[in-house]
Amino acid sequence: MMDIYRLNISHYFLLLFCLSGNIGLASTNVKSICIEEERQALVSFKQDLKDPSGRLSSWVGHDCCQWEGISCNNRTGHVTKMDLRSSYPYPREPDEEWGSSLGGKINPSLLSLKHLYYLDLSLNNFQGIHIPKFFGELKSLRYLNISFAWFGGEIPPSLGNLSNLNYLDLSSSYYVSKNLNWLSHLSSLKYLNLNRVNLSSTRGDTNWMHDVNMLPSLLELHLSSCGIESIPLSLGRINFTSLLVLDMSQNDFNTSSFPNWLFNLTSLRKLDLQWNSFNSPLPGELANLKFLEYLDLSNSGVQGQIARVSGNLCKLKVLRLEGNDFHDEGMEEFWSALTNCPNNTILELDLSGCGLKSELAAGLGMLTNLQFLYLSSNKLWGSIPESIGSLLSLKYLGLSDNHMNGSIPEGLGKLSELEVLDLGENSWEGILTEAHFINLTRLKAISIFSYDPISLIFNITYDWVPPFKLRSIDIRNCKVGPAFGVWLQSQTELQIVTLSSTGISDSIPEEWFLKLSSQLTFLTLSYNQIRGRLPSIELRFPYLHSISLDHNKFEGPLPLWSTNATILDLENNLFSGPIPSNIDKLMPHLQELYLSENHLNGTIPPCICDMHDFAVLSVRSNHFSGEFLNACSPKSIISIVDVAYNNLSGNMPSSLGELSNLQILTLNNNNFGGKIPNSLQNCPILKSIDLGGNKLSGNIPPWIGGSNGSMLYMLQLRNNFFSGHIPQQLCNLGYLRILDLSHNNFSGTIPNCLNNLTSLLLNVSVTPPRFYTQQATLTLKGQQLVYNTTLLLVKSIDLSSNNLQGEIPQEISSLILLGTLNLSRNQFTGKIPTKIGNMYWLETLDFSHNHLSGQIPQTLSSLTFLSHLNLSYNNLVGRIPWGNQLQTLTDSSIYVGNPSLCGFPLSPKCPGDDTFTTTDAKHINDDGNDELWFYVSMVLGFVVGFWSVCGTLIVKKSWRYAYFRLFDDIKDKATVAIAAL
Ligand SMILES: *[C@@H]1O[C@H](CO)[C@@H](O)[C@H](O)[C@H]1NC(C)=O
Ligand SMILES: *[C@@H]1O[C@H](CO)[C@@H](O)[C@H](O)[C@H]1NC(C)=O
Ligand SMILES: *[C@@H]1O[C@H](CO)[C@@H](O)[C@H](O)[C@H]1NC(C)=O
Repeated sequence: MMDIYRLNISHYFLLLFCLSGNIGLASTNVKSICIEEERQALVSFKQDLKDPSGRLSSWVGHDCCQWEGISCNNRTGHVTKMDLRSSYPYPREPDEEWGSSLGGKINPSLLSLKHLYYLDLSLNNFQGIHIPKFFGELKSLRYLNISFAWFGGEIPPSLGNLSNLNYLDLSSSYYVSKNLNWLSHLSSLKYLNLNRVNLSSTRGDTNWMHDVNMLPSLLELHLSSCGIESIPLSLGRINFTSLLVLDMSQNDFNTSSFPNWLFNLTSLRKLDLQWNSFNSPLPGELANLKFLEYLDLSNSGVQGQIARVSGNLCKLKVLRLEGNDFHDEGMEEFWSALTNCPNNTILELDLSGCGLKSELAAGLGMLTNLQFLYLSSNKLWGSIPESIGSLLSLKYLGLSDNHMNGSIPEGLGKLSELEVLDLGENSWEGILTEAHFINLTRLKAISIFSYDPISLIFNITYDWVPPFKLRSIDIRNCKVGPAFGVWLQSQTELQIVTLSSTGISDSIPEEWFLKLSSQLTFLTLSYNQIRGRLPSIELRFPYLHSISLDHNKFEGPLPLWSTNATILDLENNLFSGPIPSNIDKLMPHLQELYLSENHLNGTIPPCICDMHDFAVLSVRSNHFSGEFLNACSPKSIISIVDVAYNNLSGNMPSSLGELSNLQILTLNNNNFGGKIPNSLQNCPILKSIDLGGNKLSGNIPPWIGGSNGSMLYMLQLRNNFFSGHIPQQLCNLGYLRILDLSHNNFSGTIPNCLNNLTSLLLNVSVTPPRFYTQQATLTLKGQQLVYNTTLLLVKSIDLSSNNLQGEIPQEISSLILLGTLNLSRNQFTGKIPTKIGNMYWLETLDFSHNHLSGQIPQTLSSLTFLSHLNLSYNNLVGRIPWGNQLQTLTDSSIYVGNPSLCGFPLSPKCPGDDTFTTTDAKHINDDGNDELWFYVSMVLGFVVGFWSVCGTLIVKKSWRYAYFRLFDDIKDKATVAIAAL
């Protein structure tokens, strides 16, 4: 989008070289007569070339000195120069369009041009053929440029014979060189460019440097992206002390300091070492490089005192230190050195991702030549200083991803050269008016994204027309609305539009929208109150990649737009009517379709099964009806299906089994009947199945446990008519976190292999899908709740309201990460497992309405996080345990319906309990732990229980945060402690 300033010494040098060399250059004024032998050689040379664009059509007739690209000596008539550099566009890959490039073979007839000193074949396409060995015999060559010419293979060592060579450019092709021995003979070399030549086979060997050190005349050395691993940190004596430009960026250097010989290169103008690992402080010796104008140490592993670069600051034009963490050390000194320079030379300053923590220096305004200022991804805070208005040359201001929490000064509006204003991801406040934009005539891109919603307000007169034409606008969490002001409508060159959470409640200006349609690439208008219908005519958006109009008040039918978009998100609007049945023709590249929470009806078009790239269907909470996906082809790559809360009916479609990429299947709350189709076992990477709230029947098929590799983390079957036993195979589901079989007719016993559910024993992480937010309804803490973003944190087993019987297996108590265990309303008998106290994270425990007998284990009192307990309506006997967490659960309904229980909180006292008080708790606590732990856990239990039960108590805000932080800390520490066991 913008020209980024590059100090182009190489072109400057090239110019010097061509003008000053005492070489007979051809002059077009004087007619030189071509030598016949050389003409013949050129004809043969042309015959072996491919020239699809006819660049060499002038190569006819006798006087070869007049041919395109050929120059002769004006006295002798010898061909001295061949410049067949191709012009843009050149192929970026050997099999790309050719443009004006040449290809084919290089005929050795070239050797007849005995006086050729200049050969340029760059930017052509020789499709990987080797560099001809005979190039080494072109003894007169002083200039050889075959960069970007798509030659390949090993660089022939014979190039080392070109002892007159001044200029050699082999950059950017497929070249490989085992070593650089051949280089050491080129002692006249002034310019050497081996960028992207693969030198990785030099490995730990630093001899390549000794070969380079044989070139005493070198002025420019380019060794970027060569895969070199080792660089000598010291050298006997450095030879090329006149060097002006050194580029060794993007290699694999991994050292503990900078090579000391660097600082003997006292003529250096440009030093580029970015993307290496020098793992050292900024070297103070940089000050030796008195002429340095361009320094790039981005991402090179330097740290510590940034002020060490102070000695160079008044000469530098470009300073890039991106991605090195200076922790703000020496920052003040740095700014003061920079802003106190007698002449400000700095044009570009890149300190993004440098760990800066201060306010923006007010002295910034002194840097009046500055064009590019990159300060993103630091921890800068405060306001932008008013002095920003003095940076009249500024083209790029990058402050995104900081902690800026102040206002944006009006002075910004003076920056008439500004092209990019990137203020994203901060916590701005205050007001922006026309004044902030008044002279920004060149502005092309603006990004303002505030973390604090609506604390930054655009207060702009409705019909103000700004002086700029933006290509990209990205405003999030700022108040722009309620209207779609003229300042927005006048932006007719936009390609990227993001206006998200901006308080706009207007309708989309139709004319503006139609104008943009032919050029838009991204369109996001999420989380506004935008109302009305979308233009109902068929629009073409040929370049659009993604459309997000979710969380608005759009109404009317779905738009019939023809686009190549891959993402269409219209969730949470008031759209009605059907999905266009030709959606596959309108949006043939669609990958993700989000239409949840609208008023859509009709059937879900079967064609989505045949769409090539279609992967995500999310149409939850609409009025879709009829049968669903009855004929999917095995080619489909659908991975997420969410049709929950609709009126879909018919049998659960067996063609789901064709979807071998299916990961999340959410069919809950529809009218599906029949059984779980066996074909579903063909979906090897299924991670979540939610079939709750349908009319499904039959057994849980044993294959659902699959092999041990099954990745299922949720199996949700609640509220159906399933029956039969719970298959043992379920225990193979090592990733299972949510198992909900409640409200069915399951019978038999709980399999006693539950301790195989490793996800409930160990922390196994589950990666959520990228854009899709899964939602599920679960009963936790006695309440039915909808979980979405936190769903993956839930760990729950709910088998309530079935006909299960037998004893509760002891193994269940090994599921220490389980948060919810609900076995209520079954026919369980026997005792409560004695080790229940091991289930450290348990928050909800419901065994009510069973036939459990025996005493309540005392270990229950060690469940620190327990906040919802129900043991009512069983046959439990004896004293209700007391102590720790149980002191906070004082509701007698927890225990009612057990006629033989006694003690607090029930009214029947146990024999001999008349004088019991809570301060005696220590006597009952018989778990053998030492006293300290007892008191700690009592307090902890109290805090946690208090918050879970009385969470709505009004406490000062800051206290509340402090408590929760404490609570989180404790929870974290406990996790660590458990992991360490
Ligand atoms: C030949 O070219 C050289 C270099 O460009 C120039 O100085 C000289 O005047 C030319 N000679 C004639 C006879 O044109
Ligand atoms: C410097 O270059 C010259 C000429 O190529 C060479 O003879 C000499 O050995 C080099 N010195 C070092 C220290 O490599
Ligand atoms: C660098 O310069 C110093 C002082 O001129 C000299 O003593 C030293 O040998 C030089 N080092 C290299 C590697 O050339």
